[in-house]
Formats: sequence, C-alpha cells, structure tokens
Amino acid sequence: KITPNFVYGLPKAELHVHLEGTLEPELKLALAKKNHINIGQETIEDIKATYNYDSLASFLDVYYSGMSVLQTESDFYTLAMEYFKRAKENNIRHVEAFFDPQAHLARGINFDTFINGYYRACQDAKALNVDAQLIMCFLRDMSAQSASEVLVMAQNHREKILGVGLDSDEHHNPPLKFICPFTNAIAQGYRTTMHADIDQVDSIDHIKQALEIINVERLDHGTNILEDKDLTNWVQKIHLGLTACPLSNKFISDEFKGNEILELLDQGVKISIHSDDPAYFGGYISDNYLALADNYDLSVEDIVDFAKNSFETSWISPVQKEMYL
Ligand code: HPA
Ligand code: ZN
Repeated sequence: KITPNFVYGLPKAELHVHLEGTLEPELKLALAKKNHINIGQETIEDIKATYNYDSLASFLDVYYSGMSVLQTESDFYTLAMEYFKRAKENNIRHVEAFFDPQAHLARGINFDTFINGYYRACQDAKALNVDAQLIMCFLRDMSAQSASEVLVMAQNHREKILGVGLDSDEHHNPPLKFICPFTNAIAQGYRTTMHADIDQVDSIDHIKQALEIINVERLDHGTNILEDKDLTNWVQKIHLGLTACPLSNKFISDEFKGNEILELLDQGVKISIHSDDPAYFGGYISDNYLALADNYDLSVEDIVDFAKNSFETSWISPVQKEMYL
C-alpha cells in the first residue's frame, strides 16, 4: 500500500540532517585525492568497510575523521549542493540543515570558509525549488566557552544562519552546560533546538533542562520522552516538534524505534521523520519513511501526518506554511 513512489513524491520538510553527515564515500574519496589528504582508505569499498558503528561514540569517531577532506569554500559548497540535489529527488521543499563549526575550526578552517560555501549552496538551491536554511550546532563535548566563541564568530554572518542546535556526544554533557551560549543566541534572535539522543543516561533530565530551562523550540530524536507521561502530555499540548531518525537509530541501537515513534504519533505529539547522517546510515529522508513502513504497521495517514508535522514544526513563516498544509 505504501509505495516508494508515494513516499518520494510526498512534499516534505527535512529538519534533522547534518551537512557533514551527507558526505558520500564517492565525494570523500574525490576530495581526499584533490586535497592530497590521507584518509587511510583508497577505495569506496574500504571507506564503506569503516562504517560499522554500534554506539553514538563509535559513529562520531568515523564522522569527524571523514570531515578532514573538506578544505576549501568550494568543497563545502559542493557537499551542500550535492545534498540539495538529493533533497530535490526526495521532494524536500524546505530544509533546515545542521552544520558543525567547531569540527572545522579545530582543523584550522576559517569560519568564513565553511559558512560562505554552505550559504552560497543554500542560495543556489532555490533554482532546484528547495528552500534551504542553516542551523549552527555547538559540539556538546567541547566547552561552553568554545560555544560562546563560535557565537561571536557568527555575528558577521548573522543573516545566513536561522538557528542554533547542540549535537555530538551527549554522555555527561547536559543541556544546562550551554545555558550561556543558548541564552545569548536566543537574545540574538536565533531559533533553537537540541539533540536529545536515544537511550542516553539521564535522558529525561536532559529533556527537562532543554525544554523547561533553556526553552528550546524543538528536540532532535527525543523519543525517550515517553518514559515520562507528564512531559509527553505537555509537549503534545504545546505542539513541540520531535525529529526522529529511524535508520540512525538502527545503527546506534539496533532498533528503528518505530514503536516509540508511532506511540508518540498516536498520542498527538508533532513527531516527524528525518535522516540525520544519510551518507553514514544508509539512506535519505524517503528511505527513512520506507524503513518504518517496511518494519511496522503504518497507514498512509501516518505517513501524511509525519510530513505535515515536518512543515508544522519547521521554522518557515506562517504564510509559507499555509502553502504546504
Ligand atoms: N547525535 C549527536 N551528534 C551527531 C549526530 C547525532 O545523531 N549526528 C551528527 N552528529
Ligand atoms: Zn543528529
């Protein structure tokens, strides 16, 4: 009943994709050659063979080391533009894409280099009928001071960045650690979201800090919220968005978390389906929808609800929203 054609054709918003996680093995190899960088592998097959992770930490090791091939503004442009072409194939009309400044700054790449490459690709995506926006993520395993420094660097590029997020290793890195940079970002008019990764230690505490103290507007992953009934009811009531990523969950935990995702949808929570790091987790947004449809009892209405929720909880203007809903 649920066909690939239907899922691919359905208009969608992508709210949880890391641009650095869209680096396909082919482009990684090509950029490594162009920039004379030794990545330790010489063929696509060798690169793919390193993609076996069983936890967030083991994934992140592969993900950060892969970025070393990104050197020039045009490398960042190419990465983002190749992703936007995939977005078009998936009928993604609107994308709010994450990027990780500190992962590049730490390698000696200037802020201007990646922001200008990414932003130029966002502008050129308009020609593909893809509306593309950027969310700058702080790495939660680095200091709050470092995050605040990134926020200062971003001031010259304020109009190129829609929001701020928080990603990387959640263990021992609670939202409250970042209250200063997030408070400052909110004061500067940035929209806000944070990762609440699946099956973390102190998951509910982290979600409470993010929602009740920092007041973020969305949660990335966040499906562990089901452990707390009152919190679940509350996010349903305030229409807070949760961005679930089934293929990512499967790699990190051996489960798509489809039961949790469908339970949240049934309870009226504004949960939607996204791709996280598609080049590393085996598929783009439509593949994530189809993985759920293949493994769980999903109706066409459920699929449409996920897509509607993605537009509803996106940060497009109310006027723009009316076009899609
Ligand atoms: N969680 C945390 N950090 C990340 C992720 C994720 O799913 N993807 C890229 N960085
Ligand atoms: Zn993510």
